[in-house]
Order: sequence, then C-alpha cells, then structure tokens
Amino acid sequence: MIKIAVFISGRGSNLNAIIQAIADKRLSAKIETVISNDKDATGLIIAEQHGLNTFAISQKGMTRAQHEEKILEHLSKFKLDYIVLAGYMRILSPDFLKHFKSEQGYYKVINIHPSLLPAFPGIDSYKQAFDYGVKVAGVTVHLIDENMDRGKILAQEPFPRFGDDTLETFTQRGLSVEHSLYPAVLQQIAKHGIEKK
Ligand code: GRF
Repeated sequence: MIKIAVFISGRGSNLNAIIQAIADKRLSAKIETVISNDKDATGLIIAEQHGLNTFAISQKGMTRAQHEEKILEHLSKFKLDYIVLAGYMRILSPDFLKHFKSEQGYYKVINIHPSLLPAFPGIDSYKQAFDYGVKVAGVTVHLIDENMDRGKILAQEPFPRFGDDTLETFTQRGLSVEHSLYPAVLQQIAKHGIEKK
C-alpha cells in the first residue's frame, strides 16, 4: 500500500477516479491529504465528501518559496510515499522536489499529462492536439523533474480522434483514458515501485 498526497487545482476528476479505484480495491493506496492552491476547487468538495484531509492554500501574495514552504509544513505531518499531481497547475521548484528525492535519484512526484509527450507540453493540451488535427492523441503518466513535462515516462495510452469529434467529445474521450490509466499506473507503482530503467 502506498501513502500519497494528491495535488489539485480544479475539477478533480482524476482525484475522483483515484478515490473510486481505492474504494473498488483496484488501487492499494491511501490518500493522506489533498492539497489545492485554489480554495474553490471542485476537487476539494469531492475530497471532503469522502472524508479526506484537505489543505487549500492560494499562492496569492506569496513567493513560490513561501507557498511551497506552507505546503511542506502541512505535508510533514504525514509519512508519504509519493506526491500525485492531478491537474495541479503550478510548477514545483527544485527546492520543493528535493524533499521527495528517492535513493535512486528520481523525485517521488508523479503527474498525468493530457497528451503523448513530448508532443503538446504545457497547458490546454487537448485543445492543442485537437487544433493541430492529430488523428491519434493520448495521455502520459510521468515522473516530475526540474523541466516542465519532461520527466521519465511511466506509461502512455493513445486514443483516436474521430472525424465528427468536437473539442468536447475529444476531451471527454481523453479524460476517460486518464481515469483508467492513472489508477492503473499507481497500482503498478504500489506493487513494484518505480523501475530504475
Ligand atoms: C487533466 O486533463 C490532467 O491530465 C491535466 O489537468 C486535467 C485535470 O483534470 N494535468 P481534473 O482536475 O483531474 O478533472
């Protein structure tokens, strides 16, 4: 069983998928706390409905270092195996990441990105891919390192774009892939850890 903190900024549909996977025993994990940098994030309501510990702190009026310091202070109450980013819209600084460095040298911080990296990094990746006109899109689960959307890839899953797709139907297909892929990858990590290669 892995102990995780889930970081969100908004809707929380991946958080919800993780919660459901744990409830269904498809994922052997415990969510120790849910962190949000937006007090109004819908994901916080989902977390609270499930009785999870939450910690919301906006970065407004703070430096990145001060904001991260507050989060670290909260996280220090728990014994965590991994940080799981699920739509967290802030970049984590190297100073933050070093607190989660593994013996093998990688950071124990996992992210889901809505494209087949290295294509379409950054924000609005479903829209980027849709507007580009890709025939095959996808989702990536990867480790975080100091470079945005550049860490070691743990898993990728493609999905098709159909001729009659709108951005909405395309995005919905991608989100369904995310909701099955993320818990499945986390379960692999719970069982086997992160492979060195
Ligand atoms: C997802 O598309 C995820 O891949 C990206 O941000 C979005 C978050 O959605 N990093 P949600 O908050 O999990 O619904």
